[in-house]
Amino acid sequence: MMSSLSELNIVLGVTGGIAAYKAVELASSLKKLGAIVHVIMTKGATSFVTERLFQEITGQAVVSDMWEKTQFHVEHIALAKLADLMIVAPATANILAKAAAGIADDMLTTTLLATKAPVFYIPAMNTNMYENPVTQHNLMQLKKYGAYIIEPDSGYLVCGVEGKGRFPTSERIIADISSFLAKSKTLIGRKILVTAGGTREALDPVRFLGNRSTGRMGYAIAAEAAKRGADVCLVSGISELPCPENVRRLSVESAVQMRDAVLQEFDASDAVIKAAAVADYRPKTVADQKIKKKDGELVLTLVRNPDILQELGERKKKQILMGFAAETENIEEYAQDKMHRKNLDFIVANDVSKADAGFGTETNRIIIFERDGNKTEYPVLKKRILAGYILDKIEAAIEKQGDV
Ligand code: PMT
Repeated sequence: MMSSLSELNIVLGVTGGIAAYKAVELASSLKKLGAIVHVIMTKGATSFVTERLFQEITGQAVVSDMWEKTQFHVEHIALAKLADLMIVAPATANILAKAAAGIADDMLTTTLLATKAPVFYIPAMNTNMYENPVTQHNLMQLKKYGAYIIEPDSGYLVCGVEGKGRFPTSERIIADISSFLAKSKTLIGRKILVTAGGTREALDPVRFLGNRSTGRMGYAIAAEAAKRGADVCLVSGISELPCPENVRRLSVESAVQMRDAVLQEFDASDAVIKAAAVADYRPKTVADQKIKKKDGELVLTLVRNPDILQELGERKKKQILMGFAAETENIEEYAQDKMHRKNLDFIVANDVSKADAGFGTETNRIIIFERDGNKTEYPVLKKRILAGYILDKIEAAIEKQGDV
């Protein structure tokens, strides 16, 4: 089923309250709506429900022990980075106090401290504990730090009293989170054109000149733009990746085909992000039949391909233009030169000489240069995360343009 939660990585922290069993239903509802739910349990939570139950419900490994060896490398950092959203449900008075004080003594508290994702706390406890000024102070403190609190319901509590502290229904929790996500759709009404993957230049019916681009960087950008509500067109060269959700993909092979597809979409676009690796040259002639082996050398004559980005720079009106520069040396100089020569607003330089950056890798190392001289350097990060930073720049530029 399609929903605003589709494909979101949600880290669900379950703590040791009686309502821990209700978190099982919440995890199940989130999964039904398409979210990928990663559960972290505190030690206390495991006294109420088993890890096994959450594992079965979510289809994902459940983490409770910080030192346990699992699929993730440096688990608390990995989950903190992976999270699009964190939910702590139920949130006991104890976790609220620890999180407000920045204590990091188990997997959940450490992940909470390390994440940059929005965090929702769903307090559920005895009324007196909830209303205690210390708990109220901690809630206030967490709000100040940017966390979201979903207020508990009032009613009969397991401890035998009537009052505030009941765990809300999954429907209410999901409605609150969905409405938050709707507000974070910052690119609604914007058309974003992204290119990704490598081009292939035919030599004969079975051979071609190509490059090592997998499309990962561009696909991550297209997926992130779609998550933010943009109308995304992805002009994709060669890539084996599936089309991201809510993205319109136009598949092409050669640089000339890419140019045609890009130009067809350009006028209607608010921003163009060119992450594709486009061949600068193509064979002068394409043989009708397979080229046969002969003695001696085979000399190929190559002719220049159109420089698509250069052409966009010349035609550009209101569009924000972002290019990529894959460099192995003199990164800053070469990248900035491309930005000015091609009349771009931004250029993203990636150091493709490093093993964890550039073509085919899951991570990248980028520096974003802006036309006004501004420069932002990022550490090695997953392409998915960098896509977010890249789109923050695009969003700011679109907004600034609107102010003029
Ligand atoms: O796909 P992945 O495996 O994830 O790898 C990502 C990547 C390394 C391919 C990507 O991050 C990247 O750097 N893409 C641009 C690579 C490149 O070809 O750079 P370039 O310096 O040759 O070109 C500069 C810019 O001009 C690029 O935005 C390119 O799309 C564009 N260009 C280049 C040539 C041409 N004929 N037309 C163009 O539009």
